[in-house]
Amino acid sequence: MDSRAAKLFRAAAEAEAVHAQAHLRAMDGVKSTSENLEVAIAGESDEFKEMYPKFLAQAQEEGNKPAEFSFKNALAVEKVHHSLYSKALESVKSGQDLSTAFIYVCSVCGNTVERETPQTCPVCGVPASKFSEIK
Ligand SMILES: [Fe+2]
Ligand SMILES: [Fe+2]
Repeated sequence: MDSRAAKLFRAAAEAEAVHAQAHLRAMDGVKSTSENLEVAIAGESDEFKEMYPKFLAQAQEEGNKPAEFSFKNALAVEKVHHSLYSKALESVKSGQDLSTAFIYVCSVCGNTVERETPQTCPVCGVPASKFSEIK
């Protein structure tokens, strides 16, 4: 059974998401879908080219295996996001929506896949049952 403290953490996390969305609106951060995708592509690119390689190197230097595992997964998945956003931008620019309505996320590494779940996650190796569909 969940503790009440756990419930408080979930409530605070939801409240922080509300704040983040309000801050984004206040800074006029929501633009057209194309513009939003371009910003997202740049962000993902920076994460897998600059940010996570540095984090990963630091974790390896420190011999911190859990951090290494986490950063390796994140680095791989940010590349996936970059690719998915880039494909989405092409679709939007040609006046179309995404070619699939189905998107799944791996609960272990965050890998994000379109259409159908793989038999095993290509990033972390867990079975398809660890993926959940995003509604
Ligand atoms: Fe990402
Ligand atoms: Fe995974």
